[in-house]
Amino acid sequence: MGGKVIFTEKPRNDIDNIFDRDDEINTIKKVIDTGDWLAILGPRMIGKTSIAKAILNEYKKEYNPIYIDFTGIKSYNDAINKIFHAIPRSLIDKLKDNFAGVGINIMGNSITFNRRFKDTDIIKALLTLLKKSIIVLDEFQELSFGVNHFINMLHNIMMENNNTVFIFTGSSIGVMKTLLEQKGKSPLAGRNPVNIVLNPWNRTTAMTYLRTGLASCNVSVNDRELGEVIDETGTITGWLNFYGKRRCIENHEDALRDSLDEAINVAKYEIGNIVGQSKWRKTVLKMMAFGSNYNTMLQESHVSTSTLSNFLHRLEKLYVIRHDGKAYYVVDNIYRKAILV
Ligand SMILES: Nc1ncnc2c1ncn2[C@@H]1O[C@H](COP(=O)(O)OP(=O)(O)OP(=O)(O)O)[C@@H](O)[C@H]1O
Ligand SMILES: [Mg+2]
Repeated sequence: MGGKVIFTEKPRNDIDNIFDRDDEINTIKKVIDTGDWLAILGPRMIGKTSIAKAILNEYKKEYNPIYIDFTGIKSYNDAINKIFHAIPRSLIDKLKDNFAGVGINIMGNSITFNRRFKDTDIIKALLTLLKKSIIVLDEFQELSFGVNHFINMLHNIMMENNNTVFIFTGSSIGVMKTLLEQKGKSPLAGRNPVNIVLNPWNRTTAMTYLRTGLASCNVSVNDRELGEVIDETGTITGWLNFYGKRRCIENHEDALRDSLDEAINVAKYEIGNIVGQSKWRKTVLKMMAFGSNYNTMLQESHVSTSTLSNFLHRLEKLYVIRHDGKAYYVVDNIYRKAILV
């Protein structure tokens, strides 16, 4: 277990600054060497983006590092723009004579598309031009257009150019997982990525993470305080980081209160996205905050079995709830608090 700990909100982008996660990183490296595509999965704030960026940095001498954040992408045009702007400047300069041939005209810092080319052909040609690259597609579930087609195209690129590695990640990866796991007639069947799941740390690792980070900002802490942070917050790195960042400048009580407020606000926003205006969804989530079984939730929610099952299935894929054979329950302390306020 190692790595420097500096509390910052930015995703880490260097393996030396990633605490723990050695096993996951070694597995990712093995998958990259086999050329398979892979998905980095896990609950919110667990460190998916950090690990993806650290891997890009680690391989930057052998592969072009391309990090694409798909947040807010609504069309293929948006996607091409994002991909283009994710390409390192030095590579753009090297490739600049090739862009017109694939339908992209560069004008200063922006690009226009030659309308004689199909959007999908432009994306495919652009990604193919990049040759030996690791391409991270973060928040991939955000694509609100033809995702099936898009994945199929990525697969073709990978088959034709076995030097390109795709890494998918995102906070509500459930949508993507569902798509990639389609069976039967789907063109995607049998091409699932290797899934690397980042799980919350155990208590000891979380304690060591906090202790290491607080030592680097010269704060002396005691185990009772750290124990309280973990009791209240759980062990998800991003939430602990909120506390650490504040504890470097304020006392324990204030740091805990402020970081809980901050984390609960993030979780409330996510829950708002999941629940929308639906009263029954809210009721069911509240029940699961305490732990509840399927039949009780069915009775209280007054929805059909398939509606309830679909909702639970989605929450499981988002790593918000877990099912232990008897009950469904909310996994994360912060989400539990956010549901109950
Ligand atoms: N292993 C780690 N070591 C050190 N810091 C970490 C680690 N994992 C995550 N962090 C820190 O936790 C925070 C959240 O990390 P990150 O943004 O990578 O998570 P994420 O899973 O991508 O979150 P989201 O679901 O919001 O996209 C960041 O501040 C990052 O610096
Ligand atoms: Mg992220």
